[in-house]
Amino acid sequence: MCGIVGYIGPRNTQDVLIEGLSKLEYRGYDSAGIAVYTDGGLKVSKALGRLVNLENKLEGAPLVGSVGIGHTRWATHGKPSDVNSHPHTDATQKFSVVHNGIIENYLELKDELIASGVEFVSETDTEVISHLVAREYNGDIVEAVQKVIKHLRGAFALAVLTEYEPDRIVAVRHASPLIIGIGENENFIGSDIPAILKYTRNVFILNDGEMALLTRDSVKLMTIEGNEIAREMTYIEWDAITAEKGGYEHFMHKEIHEQPRAYQDTMRGRVDESGKKVVLPDFHMTDEQIKNIRNVQIIACGTAYHAGLVGRTVIERLVRIPVETDVASEYRYRSPIVTPETLVIVVSQSGETADTLAALREAQANGAHVLAITNVVGSSIARDANDVIATLAGPEIAVASTKAYTSQLIAFYLLGLYFAQVRGTQTEAQVAETLAAMQALPEQVESILTRELEAKAHAEEFSSQKHLFFIGRGLDYAAAQEGSLKLKEISYIHSEAYAAGELKHGTLALIEEGVPVIALATEQALIEKTVSNIKEVKARGGVVLTICYEEDAQELLKSVDSVFTIPKTLPLLTASLSVVALQLLSYYASLALGLDVDKPRNLAKSVTVE
Ligand code: G6P
Repeated sequence: MCGIVGYIGPRNTQDVLIEGLSKLEYRGYDSAGIAVYTDGGLKVSKALGRLVNLENKLEGAPLVGSVGIGHTRWATHGKPSDVNSHPHTDATQKFSVVHNGIIENYLELKDELIASGVEFVSETDTEVISHLVAREYNGDIVEAVQKVIKHLRGAFALAVLTEYEPDRIVAVRHASPLIIGIGENENFIGSDIPAILKYTRNVFILNDGEMALLTRDSVKLMTIEGNEIAREMTYIEWDAITAEKGGYEHFMHKEIHEQPRAYQDTMRGRVDESGKKVVLPDFHMTDEQIKNIRNVQIIACGTAYHAGLVGRTVIERLVRIPVETDVASEYRYRSPIVTPETLVIVVSQSGETADTLAALREAQANGAHVLAITNVVGSSIARDANDVIATLAGPEIAVASTKAYTSQLIAFYLLGLYFAQVRGTQTEAQVAETLAAMQALPEQVESILTRELEAKAHAEEFSSQKHLFFIGRGLDYAAAQEGSLKLKEISYIHSEAYAAGELKHGTLALIEEGVPVIALATEQALIEKTVSNIKEVKARGGVVLTICYEEDAQELLKSVDSVFTIPKTLPLLTASLSVVALQLLSYYASLALGLDVDKPRNLAKSVTVE
């Protein structure tokens, strides 16, 4: 998500920090800043927008020194702005902190600090850390940081620098990556390898729950409780491009693998401590407004539209409100019927899609309350919407969307459960059961990802075909539509997704000997009906691969050619697992065909024209 760099040594610190941040630019960011210990004490410079804005600012007022920390921010709490960008300082400006991740309990900590007289300048969760470090400081920055960590809940990678001890930087890793680069008479911190690759290939990779104390000529690794750790240095052999992709061959592959973390991050801070209730701290809709919703319209484009199709079923099943889903380019021109009791939900990874933005404005002009589910907090859609649920997938670079889509599903589950709590359409036990199943999803995704070779073999088998069909019922149909789009986008194989029961009403005419069909059969209540449709396909010579649960595999294998199993979850959540299998199939089909996986022909990541 955000990027962290840190440096202590003889070089021009400002240059090292800027160089490191520039190597993290590919990850996406909305503002940047550095803190350097100078002759005049600890000084901070930060700027909204591209790194060049910060560079221009520094040109007029350089920060000269031999120790510093820097950050590129991807907004999560508070809009992108100079003041919300990192590093954050305490009131005395003696302590500076950069942070990646999310502090779940920051509101609680903030209230407590405000009550004790602290004045906040930003809207960020991070600022609480700088004030807490200042409060706990008693002459030893390591001890102060250790004390503060005990108060923090959530995910964080930190670098902390104080004017009182300018020969030391403290780095902490807790569920957000961080590495320490080792040089000669100099040491580095990076949230990602590209940040330091120019200077050193020798690194210590911190594990969760570990911290490091850096001086010019030493690095001490310890647990966050302070127990010293001995660790072998790792030598990084990657070239710069491989490093940007985290060692993966393609961004899409990396992003598929980032999904377990994206699920966790999107849920973080939105489930209460008991794990049984959804809380949406930044939500503006009142309970009364939620109770008054008469209908919901979900509007989006492309993959985000497919997330909306899942969202429709999720809200209808959980909240029993009628939901319609529309592609944004159509919605606007069909004189949509909107009343003040209509909730419009726009879904957009980038938050900049022109069609979706225009639909949002159309809905607002008609008096609707508009809620945006988006991955970019400072985007136009996020700014214009009345409410925002941020998907915390982190920057998505591959054109074919993967982790943004599945994070949008998580956002819909949370929203549906929240509405169900307010309107009383689910019992407390039902909500708790769904949340427990959601907590298991990251690990279940991991287990699918361990079976990539299986997916690769299936993909290689069908990749020479010209046409392919996806079928499914209910949420399997919604997931099938995303699977089909993914395949088209990056393999250029013509594919169509059909509601399994609809195939026989026309498209079955296209099924002949050898035509591959991917059938999703996880919706337990509909599985027998899907099997009947599979048999219709088999009878015409189709070759069927089924995505199903392990426990149904034996039975299904009597009717189909092969299966790819996924772990069992609640019927409502199934798309967030089955789609991962479909993403892998598309990825490996594209690879088998030797295509440009990350940049498919004719497509753009963000489409800002109508
Ligand atoms: C483009 C991209 C798609 C994306 C769609 C909507 O067409 O190629 O991958 O799903 O825009 O983008 P958004 O940023 O609004 O989710």
